[in-house]
This record gives sequence, C-alpha cells and structure tokens, in this order.
Amino acid sequence: MSTKWAPDSWRAKPILQVPDYPDQAALEAAEAELANYPPLVFAGEARSLKRHLAKVAAGEAFLLQGGDCAESFREFHPDNIRDTFRVLLQMAVVLTFGAALPVVKLGRLAGQFAKPRSGATETIDGIELPSYRGDIINSIDFDEARRQPDPQRMIRAYNQSASTLNLIRAFAQGGFADLQRVHQWNMGFVADSELGERYRDLADRLNETLEFMAACGLNSDTTPQIRETEFFTSHEALLLPYEQAMTRVDSLTGDWYDTSAHLLWAGDRTRQLDNAHLEYLRGIANPIASKVGPTTEADDLIRLIDILNPDNEPGRLTLISRMGAGNVEAHLAGLLRRVKDEGRTVVWSCDPMHGNTVKSGNGYKTRPFDLILAEVDEFFQVVRAEGVHPGGVHFELTGQDVTECVGGAQAITEADLSSRYHTHCDPRLNARQALELAFVVADRLKEERSNGHGNSAKSPIAGVI
Ligand code: PEP
Ligand code: CO
Repeated sequence: MSTKWAPDSWRAKPILQVPDYPDQAALEAAEAELANYPPLVFAGEARSLKRHLAKVAAGEAFLLQGGDCAESFREFHPDNIRDTFRVLLQMAVVLTFGAALPVVKLGRLAGQFAKPRSGATETIDGIELPSYRGDIINSIDFDEARRQPDPQRMIRAYNQSASTLNLIRAFAQGGFADLQRVHQWNMGFVADSELGERYRDLADRLNETLEFMAACGLNSDTTPQIRETEFFTSHEALLLPYEQAMTRVDSLTGDWYDTSAHLLWAGDRTRQLDNAHLEYLRGIANPIASKVGPTTEADDLIRLIDILNPDNEPGRLTLISRMGAGNVEAHLAGLLRRVKDEGRTVVWSCDPMHGNTVKSGNGYKTRPFDLILAEVDEFFQVVRAEGVHPGGVHFELTGQDVTECVGGAQAITEADLSSRYHTHCDPRLNARQALELAFVVADRLKEERSNGHGNSAKSPIAGVI
C-alpha cells in the first residue's frame, strides 16, 4: 500500500463499527479539545516496548497482556486499578519462573473503552435502541437518551485513562512492584487456598534468590530493576476519531505515534484489508497487533502483514490468535506455517477468551474455564509442532473476585454467575482464575524448556524485571 498516509487518511476508507454521533459539531469540538491535551504515553516508551517485543519474537522473552474487556466509568476506583495491576504482577512472576525468560507486562487498560458489537441495535421488550459500544461512546443503561453516542465521553475516557496510568506508573516505579514485596501481593484473595500455597512456595523461592543476590551486593537500593518494573498499556484502536486526536509527531524522530497507549490493536471485526482501521494503524510507529480469528485466510494474513509491517521490523507486529477451543489445529497451523515460510517476523500470542464465549442456561454470557485452558493447550501444541515460539498470552481479567467465567479451582457454577457479575462486556477471569491459568501457562513454558524448544535459560530474576 503505497498511498500517502496521514492521521486522517482512514476517513476516506470504508469503516465498520462506527458510532452514529447525532451532533457532528459537538464531535468535532471534542476532537479538537482532545488534540490539545497532553499525550498519555511518550514515543520513547512505545519504542522500548517494541524492543521488548522484538525479543519476544526472537524467543527471548514472553508477553503477558491482560486486563478488562471494557473499562467502565462505574468501576473506576483505585482499588480496582491496584488489584488488576497486582494480579498481573503475580502472573508475571509465575510466568517468569516457568519460562526463565523476561516477561513483558502489557495492560489492557488505561484506554480500553470501545467495544465492537455484533448488532447496531439492541431490542428489549419490543424497544429498539442503539447497542452499547463502550463507555467512551454511550451508556450501558437501556435508555433512549443515554444510548445516544456522546462525544464528551471521549474527554471523560481520556481523563480516566490519565489517572489510571498515573497510578500504575506510581505503583510500577514507587515501590509497590518491588520484588521483595512479592509475598505481600498475595494477601487476601488467595491466602488460604491451594493456589495460595503454590504462590507462597514460589514467593519463598524468589525471596531466597533475592537474599542470595543481596549477599552478593545486589539489592533494591543498588539494583533498580528489583525495585521497579516496566509496565505498558494497550487497547483496541476501534474509535478512530479518538485515536486520531491522540496522534502526534514525535519530536525526536519525526514519526507519528498514537499517544493514547503504547500498543494498539485491530479487532477481529475490523481487520479488513482495505478498510479504515488498518489504514490508521499502518501509519503510526507504535508496536501494533491484530487479532487473528478462525475466518482468516493465509493469503489475506500475508497481505495484512504487508500493510502493517512492510519492513518486517521485529517487535512491530503481534498476531493474537483467537480461534476457540477445538479449532486451533485446523485454523492456526496453516497460518503459522505460511508466515514462517514467508520469513515474516511476528509475535504469536494466544487469546483464549474471545473464541470461547457461550450463553449459560440462565442467560449470562460466560466462558468455561476448561475451554480457555483447552485453547491455551492447543495453542502450545500447534505452535510447537510448527517450530514457532509461543510468544505470549492475552487474557480478559480483573483483580476483583467476580463470578463471570464458570469453572476453575473455585468451581464457579452457572448458578453462581449472578452473584458478582460486574463486567460491562465480556466475562473476565477473576484473580484466582487468572493466577491458576498463569501456573498452567508456566508449566507449558517449563515443558518447552525441558524439551529444548525454548531459548537458553536466563536468570529468572533478570526475567521479572
Ligand atoms: C476484544 O479483544 O475485546 C475483542 C472484541 O476481541 P476480538 O476482536 O478478537 O473479537
Ligand atoms: Co472482550
């Protein structure tokens, strides 16, 4: 694709999933206001993430991406941010021990507000209203006025993202993420379970290692990597007026960056080759990703890579497979082979959430833990069989003790779903289920190493940081 790119060149292309704003002038005013706001992330940070992802592509690191399906204005609370951050840190420690590789920590947060929907409208009791498209666009309340897309919501989403990111940065660099606190992260929700036991054992091993290192003169005072962590943000680049308003030229390189997050991705419903979303993504210099669902054809995938990563730059492009349990071999193996045969450098990550959503008997959208697990297992088997590195995982999770996905060690049943079902969109893993999955993925990564598939082992400590 050789035509000239500009932050607004997507506007000339066909577009799907676009909200119908009733007041164009109000939309333009909100875009203009946002365009004057400070960037949320710095281009240098996005470049740093790209370097980390280049390591993932080379099999020298592992990617953990996770967070809300959809952030909401209602669930905005410091405790929620802390708890999600904490469970991601716990998972990262578990994975680091499994992989003996650095784990790249990428939140699905501080900007993950817009949702693709299967229908433009929703009908309840004979009343038809626009579908809920995420808090950045309209309200989840089934009310005619509140379902109208409101551009002022973009301003509120920006402000919520800024405060979320501010707290995350404080946690990442201000001592909360200090590896010497790894035991304290365990307080509360997993304290008395078998899972808690497994986590405590691991934290004990980490403490022993840290004591040994301290005896050698490496402690959190002398070694900032023990005290601090790098944490990145990501969301689906769905609402392009918002993304365009956040697109700025980096003064150091002259390149365009989307400063609303470090990494942006195209969803499975908006990855059409000739449409607006890929047009927008191809021009920004951030690391980017695309979901790869079961309808993906190998030829189209190569064309997608041509568009999004024409220079075959390592770390630039992550492909997130979301095939559904039982479908991975049939749909992914050929794609892996083709991408490999064509010499394209990408990160292959597994989203075991979006292909495994079902309706429970009592009408809740849920995801059976066993299906999520099955897709993770299939992913590892299929990538290994193709001689490709399993680069990472992508989960929808929350640090809260919700009941949205059935199963797991807590054995959440369909009848339990109504007790704490808080999601504004898809069902999320709760903190225990997320940690349980991290242990499973860590076991798979360990097998990978012992079968000689992984790269040479590095110090697990170097991996955590
Ligand atoms: C999502 O990640 O929230 C999502 C909608 O996924 P997909 O595009 O893979 O359906
Ligand atoms: Co989702």
